[in-house]
Amino acid sequence: MRIPQSCSITTSRITNGISSKIPTRAQKNDGAILDFFSSLDPNVSHHLPARFADLKAEIWHEGLLQSWKEVLAELDMETERIVSLGDKVIPRVTFEELRAGLSKDTIANVKRTGVILITGAVQKEEALAWKESIRQYIDVNKNLVRGFPNEDPQIYELYNTKAQTLARTHPNILDTQRALLSLWHTSDPSTEINLNSPISYFDRLRIRKPGDTTFTLGPHIDGGSIERWEDPQFRSCWSKILQGNTNWREHDPFDASPRVGANQDLYHAAYVIFGVHRIPAYSDNERHYLSRNQCSIFRPWQGWTSMSTTKKNEGTLRVLPMLSLATAYLILRPFFRPRHHSLDSLRLEDWEVDLSNPLFPGSGMGKGQELNQITHPHLKLDQTMTAIPTVEPGDQVYWHCDVVHAVEYEHKGTTDSSVMYIPAVPLTMHNASYLRDQRIHFQQGLPAPDFPGGEGESNFFSRGNEEDISTTPGRKAYGFESFDGTSEFMKKVNSVISG
Ligand SMILES: [Fe+2]
Repeated sequence: MRIPQSCSITTSRITNGISSKIPTRAQKNDGAILDFFSSLDPNVSHHLPARFADLKAEIWHEGLLQSWKEVLAELDMETERIVSLGDKVIPRVTFEELRAGLSKDTIANVKRTGVILITGAVQKEEALAWKESIRQYIDVNKNLVRGFPNEDPQIYELYNTKAQTLARTHPNILDTQRALLSLWHTSDPSTEINLNSPISYFDRLRIRKPGDTTFTLGPHIDGGSIERWEDPQFRSCWSKILQGNTNWREHDPFDASPRVGANQDLYHAAYVIFGVHRIPAYSDNERHYLSRNQCSIFRPWQGWTSMSTTKKNEGTLRVLPMLSLATAYLILRPFFRPRHHSLDSLRLEDWEVDLSNPLFPGSGMGKGQELNQITHPHLKLDQTMTAIPTVEPGDQVYWHCDVVHAVEYEHKGTTDSSVMYIPAVPLTMHNASYLRDQRIHFQQGLPAPDFPGGEGESNFFSRGNEEDISTTPGRKAYGFESFDGTSEFMKKVNSVISG
């Protein structure tokens, strides 16, 4: 069923007073980056209210001592393994292999590391043509295009280009996403989710120039910060870890059931994805465009599709290729501190239980979850953050929502380092309502709902539109077509999407 045109009416804000029957999300407001980002200073995130000491005491029990002991021992070995393997630790498969079905070993490896590189789903020429069309779009709209930094954008505030629409609806990209979503499951059969129908989630694109040092970010995890412990539903994602003793080994990061309904944003965070090194130099305009980035949906896999040949040290992504073990450490870390107030020793005997203060290292209210050598020393991030191996245009990288990741500080290459951010996202009720609002914004040329508001591309020449989508799965992924299925859940989803 096609979504009727009448559903493309928009909010009263957008239509300048014309009321709408559709209760869509309000556009994001302005905001300052310093309000939301705790930067690389490990002390900034330490200032949590006293009640967070009570939260630690409430969660704490003696069984966590055994878990901590085991996790530190495992980390000792796993960090060494990652360093010795280098970028070979990152699973790499061809699209054909993915389509044929991944081997058990590869699946185990993807689940262990939380990251995967898929080559060849999109032809090089096609991906390069996307980049060229984006460049033309930027050129023809040069007086309206915004990006960061203002004077020489490396990342563009573009969500509605034709190239992005073609990429997000590309059959092989959707097939890739379907395969990756199939690695997830539900422990509770009543969970309202469909992992077989990937939907689009609009994000920006990057065309980073050689020599750039403005677009960078230290190690962090998307999707909330202190909420991991504070929100009861979100905390239930780590229930095995918090049960203590050896139970942490049963933690399943691919169980979608506790994730649906988890509140990752208790304090209206505006999470930034780049730019810590030049914060004081940002103009108000730049702050506006950098400040609002909290992903409000359930996004199991963040990802990008490359539009360039890019190697290590060429401004690419770095990940900590360690999923469950790193998560167990992150979740247990607030309950322990160095015995002698020194981080010199990582040995178990030099750390002790810490319930006396509200410190959750690297966590804050309205912040992203940051990690560094001081907050999370046992991860040895200075050695274990691993650059994505060489990618060609059309290759895709996806990383699990709990994976620690960063952007290289400097682009030392000689050609552009370019990607479109395209994650793998399933259908849930919340995601469906977001998809509806995102479609409405798309039709108006506005930024996607999670991103800074304003006119966006509404006055741009030759932006993407519905006519650019030629396939039914693509139309579904954009919310222009209802989904198959007769379950109550799918009926509700289709009702929400059609407005
Ligand atoms: Fe991120």
